[in-house]
Amino acid sequence: MKKIALLGTLLFAFISCQNIQSQTSNTKNQNIEQKIDSLLSIMTIEEKVGQMNQYNGFWNVTGPAPEGGNAEKKYEDLRKGYVGSMLNVRGVENVRALQKIIVEESRLGIPLIIGSDVIHGYKTLAPIPLAESASWDLEAIKKSASVAAAEASAVGVNWTFAPMVDISRDARWGRVMEGAGEDPFLGSKIAVARVTGFQGEDLSAVNTIAACAKHFAAYGFTEAGKEYNTVDIGTSTLYNYVLPPFKAAKDAGVKTFMNSFNDLNGVPATGDKFLQRDILKGKWNFDGFVVSDWASIREMVDWGHAKDLKDAAKKAAIAGSDLDMESNAYINHLVDLVKSGEVEESLIDDAARRILRVKFELGLFDDPYKYCDEEREKTVIGSTKHLDAVLDMAKKSIVLLKNDNNLLPLKKEGQKIALIGALANDKNSPLGSWRIGSDDNTAVSVLEGMQAYKGNKLTYAKGADLFVGNAGFVHEVIINETDKSDFAEAIKVAKQSDVVVMVLGEHGFQSGEARSRTNLQLPGVQQELLEAVYKVNKNIVLVLNNGRPLAVSWADEHIPAIVEAWQLGTQTGNAVAQVLYGDYNPSGKLPMTFPRHVGQVPIYYNYKNTGRPTDKDNNVFWSHYIDSEKTPLYPFGYGLSYSTFEYSNLNLNGTSFKTGSEVNVSVNVTNTSNIDGKEVVQLYIRDLVGSVTRPVRELKGFELVELKAGETKTINFALNNETLGFYNNQGDYIVEPGDFKVFVGGSSTATLEAGFELK
Ligand code: BGC
Repeated sequence: MKKIALLGTLLFAFISCQNIQSQTSNTKNQNIEQKIDSLLSIMTIEEKVGQMNQYNGFWNVTGPAPEGGNAEKKYEDLRKGYVGSMLNVRGVENVRALQKIIVEESRLGIPLIIGSDVIHGYKTLAPIPLAESASWDLEAIKKSASVAAAEASAVGVNWTFAPMVDISRDARWGRVMEGAGEDPFLGSKIAVARVTGFQGEDLSAVNTIAACAKHFAAYGFTEAGKEYNTVDIGTSTLYNYVLPPFKAAKDAGVKTFMNSFNDLNGVPATGDKFLQRDILKGKWNFDGFVVSDWASIREMVDWGHAKDLKDAAKKAAIAGSDLDMESNAYINHLVDLVKSGEVEESLIDDAARRILRVKFELGLFDDPYKYCDEEREKTVIGSTKHLDAVLDMAKKSIVLLKNDNNLLPLKKEGQKIALIGALANDKNSPLGSWRIGSDDNTAVSVLEGMQAYKGNKLTYAKGADLFVGNAGFVHEVIINETDKSDFAEAIKVAKQSDVVVMVLGEHGFQSGEARSRTNLQLPGVQQELLEAVYKVNKNIVLVLNNGRPLAVSWADEHIPAIVEAWQLGTQTGNAVAQVLYGDYNPSGKLPMTFPRHVGQVPIYYNYKNTGRPTDKDNNVFWSHYIDSEKTPLYPFGYGLSYSTFEYSNLNLNGTSFKTGSEVNVSVNVTNTSNIDGKEVVQLYIRDLVGSVTRPVRELKGFELVELKAGETKTINFALNNETLGFYNNQGDYIVEPGDFKVFVGGSSTATLEAGFELK
């Protein structure tokens, strides 16, 4: 009798699943929740927990595989339907093979969601995210994410672990290269651009993929900029700086969140119910799912927050981590925990429901092989269209930091140009960190880019190696700290040239995950090389390559022209050459403050005034350093152009406003040069008195404006409740009456000022 009942259930299960698949394909708008209800009603507890299990595939990029991660067991679990997702499986053939196992051999055939770190492109690489953020060009950033989605989806990936929306003020942290910098307003806009770029208008389209806002939360505030460290911030910082970009991503419809390695108030984020259930799923009503970071459930044991893997599984599930990335905690312990009553089954149902929902929305139940089209794989990857798009993005990401006596743009003819620096002839480093599907050495080097301009005599000399080998796991680079034997040749070439272009900075693998640094100067012997060349030729254009702000004070003092070129991806050399030769007029602005010295870090523009902001009485007791200026080397929002801009006529439509009404701000911006250009017009406010102390400036609006030579445009901004308030320490958004200042200009140090009162 029992057997018959079981068979009946299984048959029902089979038929329901078939029905689910065909129904969904016909009517997109049918109620997904009902389908999930029917599916959940026929799933065993093991199958539901299986949905919450994610295994790494063939390629381990971020850390040692935890115990129990053997391939045999993974295949066995796939056949049983005990895997909800795989990561790092790529290529149509591979994805199809795995999908086939689960769809054809498991009892219910629920397709896998395939995740990957598509951070700044798949094969065709755009600039690193911090660089893209320097464009302040939301349309371009969105486009770049859509190119990444098109390539990723063509190799079977339907979910990216991006964007990283962690606000960070600490350049020592290697992962600043993955984010949008230090500001929550800019960071929120960029989060939306990236989410909508990856996910598109229609998530079920074949060229869009699910996005993931990470790392929830506060990972950017890792203490001392040290990777995997503890985080200790106040509630005001959490609500006003950390959470806004996550909230913006959620409001833009991001399908997934990833939690983080850090703890906050002593609770590892993976086991933090306050973050995941109370805020994200509660207050924000997020209906997607939360994936753990790599083995972060297991790491709760190392944190001393869980006594063993089983305890960690229990704490993570109760706290709201839905999908276990490579801890093997859920697959090994969750069923028992439910059976013993330690974890309520309703929590498992909720997690499985969330994961299934995203699979339905992707259209995986309609066609589990929809991202497995060999033809698309061949034509989409590395297409000319994509190469053009990342070139455009690369040019927009470049920031001109200094240009004394208009040394730039370079003349196109009749010049002897020395090109110096190992990075100038490097086709690998410019690809940057997180290059999941690209081949090594496929960037256009700066040397190649400049060789395309034939009117000058270009001579290349390395000067000194930067990278001299790999150590340890995953591209840990060894930097040349001693060998100066090639200096002489570079000095000789520099002496004989009209202009010297030096490409110096960090190797692409000196930033990214697990790449914290204590020194923000030019690595290795590069500073010495720069000074040695400067002795024989002062006409230097310094092109910086880096994944984080650098403290290049000496260069700023001595070198006439400095170009921030980050790591710009596949098209690096073409983008740099076009900017150096003036075929592209740079308009990027820094998304992160550059310090004079590493000792100033964390340094950021939206700091608090403090009780002792200035030296009033020639007194030592004020907030400053005794061995360095307290101002940054280059402030947030700063960047020059070959054009020059002037701001005038800052006007407000009143001086006193009722809370809730709109404050209209207008300003005239004039291109005072004879070159067409673009300017990022920025608006900052200062709320003079707050129940929670307010920063000296807060970005509340920006617009990328194109201005022809001599042209003036009036730019309008509106301030309202959304921009004039802040979160109090209870996490409530409030707008307080009082006096406000408004500043408009081309950086966070804008001087044009007006004021109003909010009643
Ligand atoms: C990183 C995540 C990444 C994951 C999967 C972790 O080490 O912190 O950002 O998505 O690995 O590769």
